[in-house]
Amino acid sequence: MAGAKAGAETASGDSGRIVAALLAWYAQHRRDLPWRAPPGARADPYRVWLSEIMLQQTTVAAVIPYFHRFLDRWPDLGAFAAAPREEVLKEWAGLGYYARARNLHACAGALVARHGGEIPRQESQLRALPGIGPYTAAAIAAIAFDAQAVPVDGNIERVLARLFALQAPLPAAKREIAALARAFLPLSRPGDFAQGLMDLGAAVCTPKSPDCARCPLARHCRARELSIAGDLPRRAPRKARPTRRACAFWLECGGSVLLRQREDQGLLGAMMEVPTGAWVEDGGFADHPREAPLKAPWRRVEGLVRHTFTHFHLEIRLWRADLPPGARPGPPMRCRWVPVEELAGEALPSVMRKLAALAARSG
Ligand code: ADE
Repeated sequence: MAGAKAGAETASGDSGRIVAALLAWYAQHRRDLPWRAPPGARADPYRVWLSEIMLQQTTVAAVIPYFHRFLDRWPDLGAFAAAPREEVLKEWAGLGYYARARNLHACAGALVARHGGEIPRQESQLRALPGIGPYTAAAIAAIAFDAQAVPVDGNIERVLARLFALQAPLPAAKREIAALARAFLPLSRPGDFAQGLMDLGAAVCTPKSPDCARCPLARHCRARELSIAGDLPRRAPRKARPTRRACAFWLECGGSVLLRQREDQGLLGAMMEVPTGAWVEDGGFADHPREAPLKAPWRRVEGLVRHTFTHFHLEIRLWRADLPPGARPGPPMRCRWVPVEELAGEALPSVMRKLAALAARSG
């Protein structure tokens, strides 16, 4: 932690000026985002909570259309908490990291049960809720309630690592960076400060070529002084992602396809899938459809579906069978027949949509 202390000491003399410079910049350059309150107005905690969960590991651009759809459908926490989980998963489909959608729904239930349908303002209470870790708790507390907190996500890590020329590599340096962030407390307008750091990281203090000439913090920035801003934060080399391989089974009958709901826990938990066999690391593809959910005249579809998850690549070979309309078997466990033209309304993750597209080309 020696680095963090040294950094914080360098900052403490400056920290008031850094906060003031950032707040002035934010007042002029803030992004107009749909979950944000207009300047001077109070943010709606429901919008802040929903947006912060959606923004976990996901870009602002990807989140905006989902955020609008959720708000149109469930304009407040009461409406959202009353929604069936299946409907929430359907609206979430395509946004990825599906545990977030399950936790969001569980969190709404907990807010009603434990907090009278209100979002609590203290970080400690927020952290006790499903899907809310230290970052999200700090973000909600600061943005929705102007509580004394500095959320530190990847963008803010980068800004702070540069401001203090922190040389220790990520991810080990996370604790040091969190300590640097705490050194700003107490501060005025914590919600605007947090969002100012986010916007600065998105627009100016960008990963590859930071635009130091436009940066309101340039004269406080140690990395800029040392001409190393573009090299920070340093990162320990990432482990190469392994590749898993699997087969999937597209069974069509009378214009409907057999889909299966995945187990509740784990990757893509509770989402719908084109039934797949085991996802095997460093495995090959079976050359016959032994893992298919039903007996059928299976044939191999040309081409592969590729998808990358956080920790591995996935390659899927598709098998397809078409049964005559009168011969539709009863669906096996967790399976349902879904009309092909209604697939758009299903809770199908992106990788499964890629499979459906490949199947459509093979029909
Ligand atoms: N990333 C995470 N939270 C954010 C927010 N509230 N505004 C912009 N980007 C964000």
